[in-house]
Amino acid sequence: MTAPWRTAWITGASSGIGRAVAIALAQRGVKVAASARSEAKLAEIAGQHPGISPLPVDVTALAAMTEASRRLTNALGHLDLAVFNAGIWEPMSARNFSAAKAARAMAVNYQGIVNGIEAILPSMLERGAGHIGLVASIAGYRGLGPTAAYGPSKAAIINLAETLNNNLAMRGVKVSVINPGYVDTPMTRGNPFAMPFMVSAEEAARRILRGLEKGKFEIAFPWQLALLMKLARLMPNGLFFWYARTVLAPQRKTT
Ligand SMILES: NC(=O)c1ccc[n+]([C@@H]2O[C@H](COP(=O)([O-])OP(=O)(O)OC[C@H]3O[C@@H](n4cnc5c(N)ncnc54)[C@H](OP(=O)(O)O)[C@@H]3O)[C@@H](O)[C@H]2O)c1
Repeated sequence: MTAPWRTAWITGASSGIGRAVAIALAQRGVKVAASARSEAKLAEIAGQHPGISPLPVDVTALAAMTEASRRLTNALGHLDLAVFNAGIWEPMSARNFSAAKAARAMAVNYQGIVNGIEAILPSMLERGAGHIGLVASIAGYRGLGPTAAYGPSKAAIINLAETLNNNLAMRGVKVSVINPGYVDTPMTRGNPFAMPFMVSAEEAARRILRGLEKGKFEIAFPWQLALLMKLARLMPNGLFFWYARTVLAPQRKTT
């Protein structure tokens, strides 16, 4: 099936979800610029999938992201879809609280997305067209488990997506926020806690692209975990803390 985009930029494309999204798009004829820091991994993926061009960049550097966006447009033409997906996960709780870990999570997960948006938004606004997907997480809904560094960075993305969606609604640029539950990628492989309803990176990519094609604002999956965490978001604090200790905490034995 033909995709509604001619060009796409995917960050965090050297591995996991971003790699699967880049490959799925290329298989549907989209010209994809694939970004991450690992040049060798990007070159390998591009070698196997002719529609993918490697665009190595560190998302934490605004000037480098702006330059990458300029190179992308020169090589592929105007950008139809950006999926800002690069991210890191380091467990942190009250036991191993670290300002440095929190700063790293914000720099990559949140500021990396902000840098990408600054790099592409002016040209999308000028054309009155484009679609920006921000990869957050179900972990951004409420504070839970060892996510004291990761969770706030994802909550910030969800809030940013809502604000941008309101700002951009009448200007032709779509914004989507992508909130996965557990996905089987190098990021989750070392986790010592239970990860219910886990999906493969390929399945995650399918759900993300289906949601983006439908123009959905929020793409959250799998529905079972999304529902549990959305219920947690609706709860008054007292009930949430009880729910977290009794229903959700047994899944997370390392907090
Ligand atoms: N896996 C899950 O269960 C899950 C659940 C919810 C949300 N997510 C989110 O989904 C996204 C992708 O995660 P994943 O599971 O696919 O993890 P992954 O396999 O570890 O991939 C992370 C990607 O981000 C890139 N990256 C990290 N730091 C970067 C930087 N400074 N500049 C540019 N690229 C950088 C990595 O490439 P390099 O190291 O080569 O730079 C890699 O391509 C993340 O935002 C993650 O938080 C994942």
